[in-house]
Amino acid sequence: MIRKLQNFLHLTKQNLKTLISRSKLKKRVKELALEISRDYKNRNPILVAILKGSFVFLADLIREMKIPHEIDFISVASYGSGKKASGVVRLLKDLSTNIEGKDVIIIEDIIDSGLTLNYIRNNLLTRNPKSLEVVALLDKKKRKKVKIPLKYVGFFIPDSFVVGYGLDYDEKYRNLPYIAELEE
Ligand code: IMP
Ligand code: MG
Repeated sequence: MIRKLQNFLHLTKQNLKTLISRSKLKKRVKELALEISRDYKNRNPILVAILKGSFVFLADLIREMKIPHEIDFISVASYGSGKKASGVVRLLKDLSTNIEGKDVIIIEDIIDSGLTLNYIRNNLLTRNPKSLEVVALLDKKKRKKVKIPLKYVGFFIPDSFVVGYGLDYDEKYRNLPYIAELEE
C-alpha cells in the first residue's frame, strides 16, 4: 500500500520543479501592468489574450492596470500535440471586437518557436490596428525560429517545458499558482 502511494506521488508530484515562485510572478506582473499603464495613458488599449494559456496572466495583469482598457480573446490550435508546435495554426475563436484604428496589445503566456504568435500577429495586422505590440510573460529565448518584436517580456527562461499559471501539459497543471519545470 505504502509502496503504491509512493509510486503515485512520484508520478504526480516529483516531476515538477518550481522555476518562478508565486511571489516573483506577482511582483513582475505588477511591474508590467504599471509599465503598460504608463505607456498607454489616454489610449484605451485593447488587450487581446491568446487562449487558453494566457487567461491567468491576463486576469492578474488587468487587476494591476491603472488605465481604462478593453479585453478580448482569440483562440488558435497548433497542429501537432504534446510539447511541440508545428507552426501550422488554425483559428478556433476570433475576436469579438473590431480592432481597426485601435491600440492593440497581444497578451501571450509563452513564446517558444514564435510560430503561433507570428501567425496571430500577421492576422491581426491585416485588420489595420493603430498599433500592435506584444506582452509575453515567458520567453524561451533560445528556441525562437521567427523574430518577433516583443515590447514587454516578464521572464526569459531556459529551454525546458514549463507548466502552471495557465500553462498546461495535456490540459493538466493550469491551476498551479507558480511556474514549474516539467521534468522528463
Ligand atoms: P510556439 O508557436 O512554438 O511559440 O509555441 C507557443 C505555444 O505553445 C504557447 O502559446 C503555448 O501554448 C505552447 N507552449 C510552448 N512552450 C510551452 C511550455 O513550455 N509549456 C506549455 N506550453 C507551451
Ligand atoms: Mg498559448
